[in-house]
Amino acid sequence: MNSNQIRQVFLDFFKSKQHVIVPSAPMVIKNDPTLMFTNAGMNQFKDLFLGNAPVKYPRIADTQKCLRVSGKHNDLEEVGVDTYHHTMFEMLGNWSFGDYFKTDAISWAWELLTDVYNIPKDRLYVTVFEGSSDDNLGFDQDSYDIWKKFIDPSRIIKGSKKDNFWEMGDSGPCGPCTEIHVDIRDDKDREVISGKDLVNQGHPQVVEIWNNVFMEFNRKADGSLEKLPAQHVDTGMGFERLCMVLQGKKSNYDTDVFSPIISKIEEISGLRYKPEEAGHKQAEIINVAMRVISDHIRAISFSIADGQLPSNSGAGYVIRRILRRAVRYGYQSLNLKEPFLFRIVPVLAHQMGEAFPELNAQKLLIEKVVREEENSFYRTLEQGLKRIDQVCINLVSSKAKDVDGKTIFELYDTYGFPVDLTSLIAKGYGLNIDEEGFKKELEVQKKRSREAAAIDTADWEIVAEDGREGGNEFVGYDSYEATTRILRYRRIKSKGKEQFQIVLEQTPFYPEGGGQAGDTGTLTIGGEHLAVTDTKKENGIIVHFTDKIPADLTGIVSARINENKRLLTENNHTSTHLLHAALREVLGTHVEQKGSLVNEEQLRFDFSHFSKVTDEEIRKIEEIVNRKIRENISRKSEVMPLDEAKKLGAMALFGEKYGETVRVVIFDPAYSIELCGGTHVPSTGRIGFLKIVSESAVAAGIRRIEAVTSVMAEKYVNAQLDMLAAVKDHLKNPKDPVKAIDDLQESNSILGRKIEALLREKAHTLRDELIASAKEVNGVKVITQKIGLDSAEVIKDLAFDLKNKLEPLFLVLGAELNGKAHLTVMLSDALVKDKGMNASDIVKNLAKEIQGGGGGQAFYATAGGNNPSGIDNALKKAGTLLS
Ligand code: SER
Repeated sequence: MNSNQIRQVFLDFFKSKQHVIVPSAPMVIKNDPTLMFTNAGMNQFKDLFLGNAPVKYPRIADTQKCLRVSGKHNDLEEVGVDTYHHTMFEMLGNWSFGDYFKTDAISWAWELLTDVYNIPKDRLYVTVFEGSSDDNLGFDQDSYDIWKKFIDPSRIIKGSKKDNFWEMGDSGPCGPCTEIHVDIRDDKDREVISGKDLVNQGHPQVVEIWNNVFMEFNRKADGSLEKLPAQHVDTGMGFERLCMVLQGKKSNYDTDVFSPIISKIEEISGLRYKPEEAGHKQAEIINVAMRVISDHIRAISFSIADGQLPSNSGAGYVIRRILRRAVRYGYQSLNLKEPFLFRIVPVLAHQMGEAFPELNAQKLLIEKVVREEENSFYRTLEQGLKRIDQVCINLVSSKAKDVDGKTIFELYDTYGFPVDLTSLIAKGYGLNIDEEGFKKELEVQKKRSREAAAIDTADWEIVAEDGREGGNEFVGYDSYEATTRILRYRRIKSKGKEQFQIVLEQTPFYPEGGGQAGDTGTLTIGGEHLAVTDTKKENGIIVHFTDKIPADLTGIVSARINENKRLLTENNHTSTHLLHAALREVLGTHVEQKGSLVNEEQLRFDFSHFSKVTDEEIRKIEEIVNRKIRENISRKSEVMPLDEAKKLGAMALFGEKYGETVRVVIFDPAYSIELCGGTHVPSTGRIGFLKIVSESAVAAGIRRIEAVTSVMAEKYVNAQLDMLAAVKDHLKNPKDPVKAIDDLQESNSILGRKIEALLREKAHTLRDELIASAKEVNGVKVITQKIGLDSAEVIKDLAFDLKNKLEPLFLVLGAELNGKAHLTVMLSDALVKDKGMNASDIVKNLAKEIQGGGGGQAFYATAGGNNPSGIDNALKKAGTLLS
């Protein structure tokens, strides 16, 4: 069976056991502050386990894209080094929400593996939970007894809490689990050591393939376990490992999931993947690199397809680091000195596009984004190489032995240099590296980012007797207020600040989502007013953020949103829809939404488009939107099945999770139809007017438009007109202001040229005076002088002139330029090469005296500063540097 068939058989099997097959949830999570990426199939069902949301289908099965690169489940360091861990992998899963339990779960798992997939029974082992005194839990006798019906007791292994009690994170649903392991070694090896002794021992051919978790508890924030209202099943089978077993391979990377990708890497690098030579050091370096790259390109591509671009923070930063890790392996181990990852994308899309259409649909965009990231990282790598060479040269000249931890960390953090690369280069200069020092720096950074990310969340306090569930009823499409009650609340601490999250039975507060900012407003309870500072949706539940909780928790709540803010936000949201349609009309239907932010101030819309939007196009887009505003089109919104909405022409976005039914917002069926949960104007006239204020690039192939509407557009236009009036006023109200500015510029440049000629004359005289004043110190001609030349250009020419005239030269010039201090350092090549001196380092040091900074090259550098009275001190200091 090829991998696509293997996946299908799994889904068909559970369909035949009355499971509803659902699509994979996006891999990048958008509404759970405790989790950046989906790391297990069960994530999307967390609230069903906890009883916080109603169960629609008691039996579900799917294949889920997972990424384990951060938090509790992080396999990054294992990836590539071994043959069976991945950053991104598919998890095949079946779930029971309060329906079947251990008996069915275990017997179906056994039936599928042995009867359908035909895995020989004598290659399978199972583990069951032995119990744990920490949590006061006993041996999982039930699972053991069920397994005994299928498998010899000698093949059942008792496992500790570490292996056989599954938890999603530090808190959340959890329970004992039973795992199925498979031994795929050759018969000869199996005779020597029993597979049983290798279970959970990190052997690459005796691996876990399926985990059946029996969700019975909720781990509370205080560490205690609470029995869940119902019992559930959560299973997860590693798809890539299953393919390895069924295709008779010894490694995940030898299956058809990876082999086309590895072949492509072989083609690009001209090197061979030789797993059979794993014992050979050089071959293994290449093997590991090829595995890392083939794994990482999947994680990167799927994330971008889910709408997550590489960036400097959060989930985007994780993706950037994975991409850089792949490039580094290619650079270091496969000698790939130019972008290569993007060339693998089409192979991946071809391989997996059938099961995950988002890859095919966005292939071009993924390629462009990856290529651009690679380009910029290669530039960084080159800068890093220059930096490390410079550091090593300096260290050698100062007779130091070690590259210090701070520098290794800087190379690692800023330039993406792994420690072993730094070490290799340092060795070339006869230097060692301070690895301990590096580890300390790394620890400091990790601690810093942990603290920055830490959100402390207490357990829910149930206020109403029936308040455990619900809190999802949004009534804010039609009204701005509601009379309701508090169901539950909890305390959270983020960045040291304490806040509360309150769940109401009904709410007019729109939770941040679909780009639209969350509502703010007031809750009034028993005469007490609580400000709601934000509203979000977390795991499907609407939570209101407040700074305190009311004295009377059970009283009647009058919930009212800030209406003005909502109206302005709605203007911008509807305008975003109108803009989207206009963009597609003017630029083409390749335009797809890639990100959106809508608040009371403005709208920001990111979309795929491969070149700059010209001024003319912007003008056209604006004209269309404003025409649609003036047409005063009424809104129509309807809830309908997803398929029907697509038929109408609505576009579903990749990386968004849609239910079976969706809300469709229409402004003229011939113009704008969008899937949208947001709030909108009743008719477009209320928007008044839209003005695009900027167009820019966000990433390769992605543009951003920012615009303002209604009062903000008016303010913007007035501010522009005020500026124009001020400009005219300064020009003494000429008839033609543009011509007046041109004239001014011209006379200014004539004057500039005249002044420069005068300054050059002065510089000429000055040069001779400086040469005459040069002192000899240890055979070097030293000039440290303050000069009266008010032009950086002329000073630069003077310095180069002197360099040609005096040899060897140590020159430091100070000057005041437009009231600011300016320093120039020029060194003869001999001082740089033979003495290891560096003008850039010197000028940085001297710049402290003028309260400034600077830099440049090793032989020539300049600095500027705010303290001209420090110039004399800087020159005095410079005078001491050679003696
Ligand atoms: N949640 C379990 C796991 O991730 C089973 O799906 O292993």
